[in-house]
Amino acid sequence: MAKQKVTIPQLKEWKESGRKIRMVTAYDYPTALLVDRSEVELILVGDSLGMVVLGYDGTVPVTMDEMVHHIKPVVRGARNTLIVGDMPFMSYNVSIEKAIENAGRLMKEGGADCVKLEGGLPVVPVVRALVDAGIPVMAHIGLTPQTASQLGGFKVQGKDEAAAQRMLTEAQKLEEAGAFSIVLEAIPAPLAKLITAKIGIPTIGIGAGPDCDGQVLVIHDMIGLFDRFVPKFVKKYANVSEDIVNALNTYAQEVETGTFPGPEHCFTMKEEVLKRLY
Ligand code: KIV
Repeated sequence: MAKQKVTIPQLKEWKESGRKIRMVTAYDYPTALLVDRSEVELILVGDSLGMVVLGYDGTVPVTMDEMVHHIKPVVRGARNTLIVGDMPFMSYNVSIEKAIENAGRLMKEGGADCVKLEGGLPVVPVVRALVDAGIPVMAHIGLTPQTASQLGGFKVQGKDEAAAQRMLTEAQKLEEAGAFSIVLEAIPAPLAKLITAKIGIPTIGIGAGPDCDGQVLVIHDMIGLFDRFVPKFVKKYANVSEDIVNALNTYAQEVETGTFPGPEHCFTMKEEVLKRLY
């Protein structure tokens, strides 16, 4: 049966029935076409694009224009996949008005179905305002890469009792504010299990163990396309970098030896036309 775009209310039904949610990131048209052909139901056009596509050292420099630019081709390529547009650093922190305007851009200009933003208690009023404005919001707590320096680096979060309690409260408040789901990043698996059990909206884990309602991975990590830094929680399902380098080297050698292009890659012309030219 052809894939049908999952709806936001369906995700909640899946939590209740125990059907897992599968999400990956994508940042361009060809990748979106491939995800759309797969069984993965959600694409996050994440600000991780700053690191794995644009070559920045982190996600902080990513701009609204860059997000819109990358969301558009993903939307064109993945018509049957729910598209989440990530709100970049400082696009929702300056004021509620600015947050609504920027989230609106990801949906109106980019074509995303909903938005994601990072943060706990300080973003609760922002989430509420976006939801009231008709914008579906996915929250993101635990390790929040946009504020990693404040957290002391890319570290597991919520290990002690106070931090774990704070995270549970954040998840509950974000649910109350109207978020339709929450990404839990880099937190102990038992804490993710507890949060998942205590809230009514789906949790989507990345480095948060198997008991979340769904999982998300950065596609460049999981297919082995980006290997400058691979976190412990990533499973590599393919080694595309090696395939690409092997293909490039075979091409280089065949050009050098004249094996490429072969007769099957060449265009011909009539002999008599050619003769007149000589
Ligand atoms: O930007 C991103 O890819 C993310 C995921 C790591 C959840 O936020």
